[in-house]
Amino acid sequence: MASTDARSAAGVNGPTRARIGVKTLREDRWWLAPAGTFVVFAAFIVYSTWRAFSGANYFSEPYLSPFYSPCLSNECVPGSSDFGQPFGGWPLSPALLILVFPLGFRLTCYYYRKAYYRAFWLSPPACAVAEPHTKYTGETRFPLIAQNLHRWFWYAAVVVALVLSYDVLLAFGPAEGESDGIHMGLGTLIMLVNVVFIWMYTLGCHSCRHIMGGRLRHFSQHPVRYKLWGWASKLNGQHARWAWFSLVSVALTDFYIYLLATGAFDDPRFF
Ligand code: FES
Repeated sequence: MASTDARSAAGVNGPTRARIGVKTLREDRWWLAPAGTFVVFAAFIVYSTWRAFSGANYFSEPYLSPFYSPCLSNECVPGSSDFGQPFGGWPLSPALLILVFPLGFRLTCYYYRKAYYRAFWLSPPACAVAEPHTKYTGETRFPLIAQNLHRWFWYAAVVVALVLSYDVLLAFGPAEGESDGIHMGLGTLIMLVNVVFIWMYTLGCHSCRHIMGGRLRHFSQHPVRYKLWGWASKLNGQHARWAWFSLVSVALTDFYIYLLATGAFDDPRFF
């Protein structure tokens, strides 16, 4: 193991680095972005933890909260299990069965990594701002080596996005007391917008881009993959935006359905 002296000589204290007595020479408000990220992420973590463990108020016909979809345990309220209840004996909230996939996907996302490394670990807090840590091992050992699972989480995230898209189709169904056929309420619109953001985020993933167009020698011989790679690249250019939009929209969608399920107000119906 490296001695304390050896460790303190690493990073910005390394022998090849300029000796600068202050944490940064930046004079702009560089702390705004990590501070904002910290506040929003912390709020999301508190909110989603509360909702995921509550195990209640996640279904208001025909709307199912994205935190609970697919609902796979026999604890699920009637009408919310469109893919059966294969986890009959699951004693905890049904959300805990599936949230591991979107959570793993976001935790290992290249953009989120940058955001939470800066906001929570100050590693470093911003460009050209010295970090407080004296040692850097990168993502080469446990636990951060697990960030390499991102591609596998992407496959799971595609399945989750397909399930959420199916939920949007069901959201065009009748609410309690309505006749069969196609209907639409404010909840339908909210779920639709949410799933669009989720697809934008999922398909703009760096791993998706590589899956579409990586390891090819000649794009000219793979026109379909080239096209898909081009689309993924376009979305990828705005990946941070879709990460934020989809994070906020998934929480708002859940909250809207929570309000309906608790009877706080009725869903405005358009037809
Ligand atoms: Fe962000 Fe894959 S890099 S979702």
